[in-house]
Amino acid sequence: MFKRISGARDILPEEVFLWQDIEEISRRTFSLYGYKEIRPPLIEEAHLFKRSLGASSEIIQKQMFLIKNKKELYALRPEGTASIVRSYIENNLQKREGFVKFYYLGPMFRLERPQKGRLRQFHHIGVEAVGSCAADLDVEIISLAENLLKNFSISGFKIKLNSLGCPDDKLKLASILRKNLKGKIAGLCKDCKVRFKKNILRVLDCKNESCRQVIKEVDINEACLCSDCKVHFTKVKQGLDSLKINYEVTPYLVRGLDYYTRTVFEITHDALGAQDALGAGGRYDNLVKELGGPDIGAIGFAFGVERLLLVKTQDTGRKGQGLIYLITLGEKARNEGIRILDSLRRNSLACETDYESKSLKAAMRQANNLGARFVLMLGEDELTKGVITIKDMASGAQKQVKPDTLELIKELKC
Ligand code: HAM
Repeated sequence: MFKRISGARDILPEEVFLWQDIEEISRRTFSLYGYKEIRPPLIEEAHLFKRSLGASSEIIQKQMFLIKNKKELYALRPEGTASIVRSYIENNLQKREGFVKFYYLGPMFRLERPQKGRLRQFHHIGVEAVGSCAADLDVEIISLAENLLKNFSISGFKIKLNSLGCPDDKLKLASILRKNLKGKIAGLCKDCKVRFKKNILRVLDCKNESCRQVIKEVDINEACLCSDCKVHFTKVKQGLDSLKINYEVTPYLVRGLDYYTRTVFEITHDALGAQDALGAGGRYDNLVKELGGPDIGAIGFAFGVERLLLVKTQDTGRKGQGLIYLITLGEKARNEGIRILDSLRRNSLACETDYESKSLKAAMRQANNLGARFVLMLGEDELTKGVITIKDMASGAQKQVKPDTLELIKELKC
């Protein structure tokens, strides 16, 4: 017996409609903000991610799904941003389109220790706007993320916001941290002892209680930001205030990927437990240039679909929406039933039937389970009278009509 690998899930049909809802709402919302879909490959050169996310990031250090092919090393994508920037540069989109707004939906892969809300194959819904450094774009993107959650009927989330500043500001912050934490290394967790040497900013968002205590004593504020980055951050906050978007400035929010500069944000939900981020994003103004493209700013975010579904309490009740279920009794009725079924489907009505000639009771149960809107019944009695019985499953009302396609369509579309 084969089993799925740990951290990968089967999304079964009874759940797929929830995914389709999330996807549909996303597509509709993205198009309102001018985002177009992009579908980069799931597999890329491993080096693309190392260069983008940073050699010392947790993803590169521990979580890459790598595939060796002769002298080349490929990776299943752990995230979408690097691929999209690669695609922007490779397809010369700066010359063709300049500023672009892309969205993407699809699986990502990280070799993590699976737990609630943390999988090895999970799914992102994300956007990337490449080609502008305007603070208005940061505001629009955070507003889009918030609006998406509202459209998914998700409430109770928090938006955490910070600015990391430009690369020089990040260096300044790292040096302040190094100075302040030097005498306190013993109080840090094992991971943070390594982070202290390799990627000191990551110590700031460690969830370990003893690290938090140590970090609390270090005064982190906007002092590290240069005047341009301070102005940018102020504009972002003012823009969010004017749209009445609630957020918390969180100086400890640094994010785990090296490409971030200036605005970073994370959207959390208490119902998720330890892995509390529904989604996250930020600016990466240096990445396009870093990967060989022009010197232009960019910003984006991604939500984890599995986590959205963990906190989404209302579903849209799409199960069986508009479904027609045909029950036939006897051989003759069966032949006539197959003709009706085919004709309704060719007229765009969703129909299902009982292939195993179950009893009427068993077939009705099946229709109920599927959430059918109408049941069509055809037996000896109906055949003799030249009619078909329609049962409205919501009201229980029954009526008999001619089994003529147009007549049926009229009745079943109401
Ligand atoms: P990220 O924070 O690594 O950012 O991932 C975004 C979201 O994906 C997380 O907030 C979480 O909801 C979900 N997620 C991450 N890892 C897992 C996992 N192992 N299992 C389930 N869900 C997971 C990025 O990937 C950036 N590329 C976002 C971005 C786009 N920044 C700018 N543009």
